[in-house]
Amino acid sequence: MKEQLKSIEERACQELEKVSDMKLLDEIRVRFLGKKGEVTAILKQMGKLSAEERPVIGQLANKVRENIEEAISAKQQSLKSALVEQKLKSETVDVTMPGREVKLGRPHPLNAVLAEVESVFLGMGFDIVEGPEVETDHYCFEALNMPKHHPARDTQDTFYINENVLLRTQTSSVQIRTMEKMKPPIRIISPGRVYRSDAVDATHSPLFHQIEGLVVDKGVTMADLKGTLELLMKRLYGDEAKIRLRPHHFPYTEPSAEVDLMCFNCHGKGCSMCKQEGYVELLGSGMVHPKVLADCGIDPEIYSGFAFGIGLERITMGRYNINDMRLLYENDMRFLEQF
Ligand code: DAH
Repeated sequence: MKEQLKSIEERACQELEKVSDMKLLDEIRVRFLGKKGEVTAILKQMGKLSAEERPVIGQLANKVRENIEEAISAKQQSLKSALVEQKLKSETVDVTMPGREVKLGRPHPLNAVLAEVESVFLGMGFDIVEGPEVETDHYCFEALNMPKHHPARDTQDTFYINENVLLRTQTSSVQIRTMEKMKPPIRIISPGRVYRSDAVDATHSPLFHQIEGLVVDKGVTMADLKGTLELLMKRLYGDEAKIRLRPHHFPYTEPSAEVDLMCFNCHGKGCSMCKQEGYVELLGSGMVHPKVLADCGIDPEIYSGFAFGIGLERITMGRYNINDMRLLYENDMRFLEQF
């Protein structure tokens, strides 16, 4: 029996050495130490031994059992730590690898300037309203005192969809839509896209943006118009910004004025940048024509108003010294990243 026990221990140890996974390890434990295992089988035969032999073999059997148990648990430990090590290795992060660059976007210059303009007018208590880009002849021209065949229509080459539906050439259409819905006091701006059948060049595009403004209340005067626009220009271009009002004609304002900004380059003296004018043309404006007010159901004997239309591209180009309008639409990152 001694020999048997020794051989059991030897074989168990040999097999344990070769084991490389937990499942095999458990099989070995069952095979040697389980209820039907080899060591147990020996212990079951103890009854056949003599009184002297029994304690000797008993001790030896227990020793063998303990040794095998120890060897199994040692193997278990080493298998476990090998597993952890393997897991750690497969999950390591190489902190020396170059990171993935996150590209931060930024507002397009047109949107950036529009946001500034909006915040100036919101600060003065204006609302921001929107109107449709596909518009009727009525709102775009007729209600603005420009009946069919009025010569002022010629300055706005129009994309007609049919005789009465067109792509709006100006945001002034929103003045009419607003006055039909709201009653004075009215204080709104309306930014949006406008369309004209123009060929593309450095200062023209068939699609561009305007910001319309409209104020109607009791006692509104030209001084309010000038003060409002002066404040806007100082906010956009700095406190030295100076504007001047120049007489003009628009069918929907009376009197009408074009508003010019003093040239930053020559401070009004005249240079190549302002074509020797000293000023650069910015926008159209005026006091809302009494007929336009009346047609919208607002009594011109009680109320008066001013209106203006700003070209967003023009003030953006002035703001950032951009000399070609096309740059604003080409989505060239080398250009856009400068703002
Ligand atoms: N609608 C004009 C244009 O597109 C600009 C304009 C002029 C708007 C006078 C106005 C205004 O509101 O009162 O050229």
